Amino acid sequence: MRSHVRPVKGLAHIHAMSSLSVYRVLVTKTVLVTGGGRGLGRVTAEKLAVAGHRVILVARVAAAAEAAVEEIQHSHPHVRLEARSVDLSSLTQVRAFATTEAERGEPIDLLLNHSSAQRA
Ligand SMILES: NC(=O)c1ccc[n+]([C@@H]2O[C@H](COP(=O)([O-])OP(=O)(O)OC[C@H]3O[C@@H](n4cnc5c(N)ncnc54)[C@H](OP(=O)(O)O)[C@@H]3O)[C@@H](O)[C@H]2O)c1
Repeated sequence: MRSHVRPVKGLAHIHAMSSLSVYRVLVTKTVLVTGGGRGLGRVTAEKLAVAGHRVILVARVAAAAEAAVEEIQHSHPHVRLEARSVDLSSLTQVRAFATTEAERGEPIDLLLNHSSAQRA
C-alpha cells in the first residue's frame, strides 16, 4: 500500500521508526480551511489542528470563525488555529483576502474548500 505521507529530507530515520502519528506531527503544514464555521469544514479544521498542523479557519462571518476557533481551543488548548472571515461568493472579497494572506508572508501549503459558497 502506498503511503500518503510525503517523505521529507533528513527525516528518514524518523520514517524508519514507522510511528505514523509522530511523523504526521513533525511534517506540519499550514492548511487553510474554508467553511470552517460549521459542518465538514469545522470538523476538518479541528482534526488537522489536533494533528499538529497550523490551521487558518475561514468562515463567512468573523464572529462564526472566532467562535469556532474558541470552541476548538477550549477543548485543545495547544492547537495553532487562526480565525479569518471572507464571503466567498464575492470575488472582490476573495481577491482582497488572497492579497492580505499573501502579504502576511506565511505560505499556505494546502487549501481545503469546504464552503458551500456559490458565486453571486
Ligand atoms: N455533508 C455532506 O455529507 C457532504 C457530502 C458531499 C459534499 N459536501 C459538500 O461539502 C461542502 C460542505 O458541506 P457541509 O455539509 O459541511 O455544509 P454546511 O454545513 O452547509 O456548511 C457550509 C459552510 O459553507 C459556508 N459558506 C456558505 N456560503 C459561504 C460564503 N458565501 N462564503 C463563505 N462561506 C460560506 C457556511 O458558512 P455560514 O455558516 O456563514 O453559512 C458553512 O460554514 C458543501 O459544498 C457540500 O455540498 C457535503
